[in-house]
Amino acid sequence: MSSLTLPSIAVILCSSRQPRVCPQIGAFVTEIIENRIPSISTHPHPKLHLIDLAAWNLPLFDEPGIPSQVSSHSEYSQPHTRAWSLEIQKYSAFIFILPQYNWGYPAVIKNAIDYLYHEWHGKPAMIVSYGGHGGVKAAGQLRQVLQGVRMNVAETMPALSFPSKQTLLQATKGEELPLLGEEGIWDSEREVVCKAFEELLTLVSQK
Ligand SMILES: Cc1cc2nc3c(=O)[nH]c(=O)nc-3n(C[C@H](O)[C@H](O)[C@H](O)COP(=O)(O)O)c2cc1C
Repeated sequence: MSSLTLPSIAVILCSSRQPRVCPQIGAFVTEIIENRIPSISTHPHPKLHLIDLAAWNLPLFDEPGIPSQVSSHSEYSQPHTRAWSLEIQKYSAFIFILPQYNWGYPAVIKNAIDYLYHEWHGKPAMIVSYGGHGGVKAAGQLRQVLQGVRMNVAETMPALSFPSKQTLLQATKGEELPLLGEEGIWDSEREVVCKAFEELLTLVSQK
């Protein structure tokens, strides 16, 4: 497959707080994927692109219509919706880097999803959650919503647990966590991230 036909995959940072740990976790997941052993994969190496919802800073959903009834981005009434639509149209799959807030997922990602419909429809998704217990409740809820916009969600959902209360508090303050290099706190999770990513690539190849 030539590089021109490689799937374009976006990594979506689903926290918009300042400070926050989400960019570090996005970088950790990206590093795992980019350094995975290509020989164990039957898929070509795709390029990953970052989407930071904090940078997009979308207002609370303010379209007059239902996005599922819109057939072209030009039909959206708001310029930010048209720009968001064009951004999401660029990618063939998505990796959601997802914190858990109060047993759910952050409002910023639900808002970003609700703006669109056809732009998500039929595309594969992978969820990597994190939290005191791995953020599994947030991941399960997001999975349902992604299925609602008819995305194909990879079965495996890596759930990264902060190893201690102290680490959780450091993460909350956006302090640097020992993630990369030797003795990273989630070294044992690298394999499950690769597994989920392989599933994502299989879903992309089945499209
Ligand atoms: C509003 C809020 C609610 C939270 N609720 C949970 C929770 O339900 N479970 C959990 O494990 N951690 C919870 N935490 C702790 C987060 O896991 C931790 O703050 C993490 O750093 C959040 O990700 P972020 O820094 O990328 O926003 C919560 C944090 C915030 C700010």
